[in-house]
Amino acid sequence: MARLVGISGSLRSKSFNTALLNAAVGLMPAGSELAVHSIRGIPLYDADVEKAEGIPAAVSALKEAVAACDGLLLATPEYSNSIPGVFKNAIDWMARPDSDVARIFGGRPVALIGASPGNFGTNLSQVAWLPVLRTLGTDLWTGQKFFATRAHTLVDAEGVLADEKTKERLGNFLAGFVAFAETRRKG
Ligand code: FNR
Repeated sequence: MARLVGISGSLRSKSFNTALLNAAVGLMPAGSELAVHSIRGIPLYDADVEKAEGIPAAVSALKEAVAACDGLLLATPEYSNSIPGVFKNAIDWMARPDSDVARIFGGRPVALIGASPGNFGTNLSQVAWLPVLRTLGTDLWTGQKFFATRAHTLVDAEGVLADEKTKERLGNFLAGFVAFAETRRKG
């Protein structure tokens, strides 16, 4: 059974990216599961704080969830054609201390999804993640791409993903990623 962790890169209550992850929970292949996590509570990275106080509790909790999973699904918004600062900040904290990077990210199956109201649906943001994920030593799955364009038309009034075609595409994406993660699973 593959256990995935999903992290949304948005703090917005009706975030389209969080909506993708919440929908993905119900679209996972049989026998696998997805736990959705948030970057809420993670402070701005400050090396002085790290030196004086160590890794913040919210960061440690996220790190240990990732360390225990079979695959990491990042739902990234796009800001200014790139990675939102709040999301990059969270991953940067999770890459501390340097000696822990291999345990948390090394060889870890990772996949990217994203949603935006625009016509390109986080394409450039997903590309911007590539050098980060390579540097962290992740095992990036590139078997499919998933972008949700014009995301405001895909959700209902409560911010829940309602578009059936998008759900079907997301289900196919998850099936592919889970199959990949299972081939990489140790033990
Ligand atoms: C955006 N947005 C945006 N969208 C996009 O497709 N390409 C872009 O370059 C940008 N740039 C951008 C910059 C900033 C500062 C903000 C605040 C927003 C719009 C963005 O996709 C939209 O706010 C989404 O709703 C953000 O994702 P969540 O919060 O819905 O998950």
